[in-house]
Amino acid sequence: MTLTTSWLTRAGATPSFADRYTAVRAATERLCVPLQTEDYVVSSMPDVSPTKWHLAHTSWFFETFVLAPFHRDYRALNPKYAFLFNSYYVQAGERHCRAQRGLVTRPTVAEVYEYRAYVDAHMQQLIADIDDDANHPASAVLALGLHHEQQHQELLVTDIKHVFWMNPMRPAYRPETRTASVPAGQGWTMIDAGVRDIGYNGDGFHFDNEAPPHREYIQPSALAHRLTTNGEYAEFIADGGYRRSEFWLSAGWATVREHTWRAPLYWESVDDTWHEFTLAGTAPVDAHAPVTHLSYFEADAYARWVGKRLPTEAEWEVLARTQPVVGRFADAELLQPHSDGTTGLQQLFGDVWQWTQSPYVAYPGFRAGAGALGEYNGKWMSDQWVLRGASCATPASHARVTYRNFFPSDARWQFTGIRLARDVAGEFA
Ligand SMILES: [Fe+2]
Repeated sequence: MTLTTSWLTRAGATPSFADRYTAVRAATERLCVPLQTEDYVVSSMPDVSPTKWHLAHTSWFFETFVLAPFHRDYRALNPKYAFLFNSYYVQAGERHCRAQRGLVTRPTVAEVYEYRAYVDAHMQQLIADIDDDANHPASAVLALGLHHEQQHQELLVTDIKHVFWMNPMRPAYRPETRTASVPAGQGWTMIDAGVRDIGYNGDGFHFDNEAPPHREYIQPSALAHRLTTNGEYAEFIADGGYRRSEFWLSAGWATVREHTWRAPLYWESVDDTWHEFTLAGTAPVDAHAPVTHLSYFEADAYARWVGKRLPTEAEWEVLARTQPVVGRFADAELLQPHSDGTTGLQQLFGDVWQWTQSPYVAYPGFRAGAGALGEYNGKWMSDQWVLRGASCATPASHARVTYRNFFPSDARWQFTGIRLARDVAGEFA
């Protein structure tokens, strides 16, 4: 199977809305090909949504925000779906309890696919009417719906991984395709102090939280050439990292003790050897691959242990602007971070989302839009941290240098990892 939709953002001729819509919707459904019907229904924790819900919710998004306001005579296939498949849009109406999504056996999986087909048929009618007119009032929200569905493609993968992890059978999503990662030396790229441009400043698609573009003052710093590896993180564990409070933020230490964490999510010790659960099943930890499934607390504690810190998102963006948006994305079908032994600055994009020490707050001048769609990003700007880059489960055409992902401090079921930073005060005096 191929998930390639990279042409969505490739320079040159812009594909039609019809082709983009068809490609994105098909990519979601291809992710479900390895699944059995029973796999679609389960939620293994409140953060995890059933596959069936992702398939339906992304359809509800198009139905609610594109078809209802812009299709000539759209009628909902089932008015009750709005209650079941609204995620968090308060202004769009009452909705089902998020933590109970895994208790919903009806509509069936087959009925959800019928719902998708119904929405698709009406969307293609509307897209024909839009006729690729960028100024049509539906065009902007149609583009948003496509990028929204790509976000859910990544969530679908990380959620089914957690569902399978919680199953004592530890099923594999797909056969193993990895080869052992190759070690790569670590190095540092210096970032000069100065006022730098941050945020999206163009005429392409971007989420509202990536703007307005603005300037920030950057202190002299250095960022690591590559991501922190499993082997390096294992040294932190072996040195008592999870038993020594001095490395942890207070809330992090409380979380470690409450949940008895002693390693990244999906790690388990088998015959005194660390193994990790991947979408291909359980295997010994790949020592030279980027460590992943870490919370902010763990990433921060590791950085302290090694005498460094996490980068700010502005530092990260200044560095990433020097690099092409290339990497191991979902399109590579590895669905696990990897190292091919490349040296030098690398892995800004793909493999794992990189925790920053920047709180997820509004850029100067940001105002959330009016109405339910204004709830998309703006209302989450508290108690979360920014992650940059993209992961091995992110569609390639979804990655962007200004992209701001965000999760709470204790979240670790996403492909999240570490790029270290350090202060270099005085070196540039
Ligand atoms: Fe959503």
